[in-house]
Amino acid sequence: MSIRIVVIPGDGIGREVIPAAVEVLAATGLPLEFVPAEAGWATFERCGTALPAATLEAVRACGLALFGAVSSPLGRVPGYRSPIVQMRRELDLYANVRPAASAPVPGSRPGVDLVIVRENTEGLYAGRERREGDTAVAERVITRRASERVAQVACQVASRRRRRLTIVHKANVLPETCGLFRDAVRQVAAGYAELAVDECLVDTMAMRLVSSPEALDTIVTTNLFGDILSDEAAAVVGGMGLAPAGNIGEQAAVFEPVHGSAPDIAGRGIANPVAAILAAAMLLEHVGQAEAAGHVRRAVGQVLEHGPHTPDLGGAAGTEEVTRAIVEHL
Ligand code: NAI
Ligand code: MG
Repeated sequence: MSIRIVVIPGDGIGREVIPAAVEVLAATGLPLEFVPAEAGWATFERCGTALPAATLEAVRACGLALFGAVSSPLGRVPGYRSPIVQMRRELDLYANVRPAASAPVPGSRPGVDLVIVRENTEGLYAGRERREGDTAVAERVITRRASERVAQVACQVASRRRRRLTIVHKANVLPETCGLFRDAVRQVAAGYAELAVDECLVDTMAMRLVSSPEALDTIVTTNLFGDILSDEAAAVVGGMGLAPAGNIGEQAAVFEPVHGSAPDIAGRGIANPVAAILAAAMLLEHVGQAEAAGHVRRAVGQVLEHGPHTPDLGGAAGTEEVTRAIVEHL
């Protein structure tokens, strides 16, 4: 039985780094079947929807996808909704797992090995935003159910790691929403006797990620906070070119690089494929192929240590050259 993976390159450098990740997956020798699908701005311009029903159906049917990145307009465009945000909600991919670990590259701080587990379906991204004349309102929705579900994932992640869980919130200013989140996570974590659980305000966490990230293990937080903190964590350990993520639900899981479509470098063949390739390694681990995932990570580690490197890491190599080197190490 082969493992079926829906492949959604999206826009911009998604179209460059996802083929690279597919090439590496194919080189593992595992019985994988790739199912191509569309999403993103170019899809919206052509079909009037950024996330065609066929794409959503394919991910539902296979339960597994590799997603690149999409370009989203900075203002409101009638009919457009961010397909990745929509996919997370439609498929109930309620936990976004974002590891940030030191890499053997000059821009990476050594000694860091942390994971941010971000609630992925509600919070300020619940889509409840409206305009009343010159007042604009966004509702931040926090439910006990979603908080408990993401807490379960975070506790499981922490249990497999150094067993330290930090709840990140802003309950001093947002006592209802952040208070409910914090209390729900605390309750779930009480069922994991092996975990040391503490909490931290989000602004303080933003500082700690820069000042003492080595001390952090597993962080669990709400949607917007996790979005921002995970970009920050990525920058501390080598940049957006290296950061993978997994969107995990009961019925499906979608793996993606944390970065966006990078229009500033798209089309030039110089995007760093490592984030997408590490996302592919997370996918392999998720489907029980931990050994193959380890091989991919080791091959990436070799290339990060010895080159070739793309320009974001100070090198002069292109996406294809880096990908070829990783495949050779595999
Ligand atoms: P971005 O992540 O696309 O780029 C930020 C900076 O990092 C740019 O200078 C870019 O060149 C660099 N960068 C990112 N990935 C890289 C890689 N693999 N190799 C080398 N350099 C890399 O974020 P930005 O510029 O804020 O957003 C661009 C577009 O992407 C927007 O339309 C935004 O809505 C979308 N976006 C989509 C996401 C998704 O689909 N999951 C996530 C974040 C942004
Ligand atoms: Mg983001």
